[in-house]
Amino acid sequence: MRHLRVPSEETQQWLDFCRKKRWIMPSAGVLTLDDGLKGIPILDSAPDEGNECWQGNSIITAQGLTRGPEHWSERLNDETLTEIIDILPKSHEIQGDILMVKIDQSIEEYSQEIAHAMLEQFPSIRLICADKGVKGDFRVRDLLPISSRDGNTSTRTKIRENGQSIWTDPAKAYFSARLSNERIQNLTSAKDLKNKLNRKLGVCDPYAGVGPGIIPLVIEDDLISHCVVGDLNPDAFELLELNFHELISNNKITGKKLLLKNIDARKWKNTIQELGQIDLLLVNLPHDSINHLPELIPLLSRGSLTKIRGWAIIEKSELIDFEKEIIDILNHANAEIKSVNSSEVKGFSSTKIFMRFETEQIIH
Ligand SMILES: C[S@@+](CC[C@H](N)C(=O)[O-])C[C@H]1O[C@@H](n2cnc3c(N)ncnc32)[C@H](O)[C@@H]1O
Repeated sequence: MRHLRVPSEETQQWLDFCRKKRWIMPSAGVLTLDDGLKGIPILDSAPDEGNECWQGNSIITAQGLTRGPEHWSERLNDETLTEIIDILPKSHEIQGDILMVKIDQSIEEYSQEIAHAMLEQFPSIRLICADKGVKGDFRVRDLLPISSRDGNTSTRTKIRENGQSIWTDPAKAYFSARLSNERIQNLTSAKDLKNKLNRKLGVCDPYAGVGPGIIPLVIEDDLISHCVVGDLNPDAFELLELNFHELISNNKITGKKLLLKNIDARKWKNTIQELGQIDLLLVNLPHDSINHLPELIPLLSRGSLTKIRGWAIIEKSELIDFEKEIIDILNHANAEIKSVNSSEVKGFSSTKIFMRFETEQIIH
């Protein structure tokens, strides 16, 4: 590879010059040469040594410092790349050390080659899985392991969110990294309610999945007195228990009453009397949150301010009546409504709307 030899202190100036002229060799690094000189990698199309644009600097040929391809597809062999270039997977999702990619049926025969290219490109990935969509009542992904770096094809993995490690399994439990910001907001909202009530809270997350929504609240000092957490999916519940078990073993949850159950959220109202009532309720079953809401309201404390934070997927045509529907449910539950707010969580489906809603009320 040809390199322009320049004094070290002029490196930036020559890099800028070559970039402007589009003479820089992509994905190659600057070489450190003897005598305080640097080698800037240039394309064959750049002028030869002696051209006045180089101002007397020489050009050498040296082994390039390649940084490797910028996109995994550049690691496919030329024949394969030409064959499938128009149908290459455009995106992928990573959870922990697992990469999930949707591969068009017409190029399934290239799955192994694609997976190997991806394993080479992403050193922290252990397993590449074909993502075949969502399946079953619990809307978990249908994943087909294609290639593993070390032979381990387990889809159980640890993700890191907001400084916390959480076990999940994308083939068995729902988890979306895209909702991380919503989970940070849960904490802000809980702290606000604690300040208004001037005491610690009872919190319920009945659709907890593996726990990413409730964990930031439960590890916070002086925020929660008791906490009711569940999920109906037994596989998600197993991971939820594991995550809580690790937090307890690491002394991250102390001095709080906890109740974890693998039950239908709508059954909690019959089972938690002994624990004390709930000040903050999370309702994260976006396809059914509004339908379930009437059966969850009995969990809320009576006679003091309570909050509901929920998420719902609705049709665009339902937007106009969305808050009214929530108000009707609260009125029906004899609630003195203090506020009902809703707004769209951007970046989801283009045909439907993903809404967050937050209400404050006193149930009489
Ligand atoms: C959208 S996910 C939310 C998971 C978690 N809160 C999160 O933020 O990742 C909904 C969860 O509700 C669970 N679920 C579905 N129907 C349920 C029901 N009737 N009662 C309790 N949990 C249910 C699913 O298994 C899933 O884990």
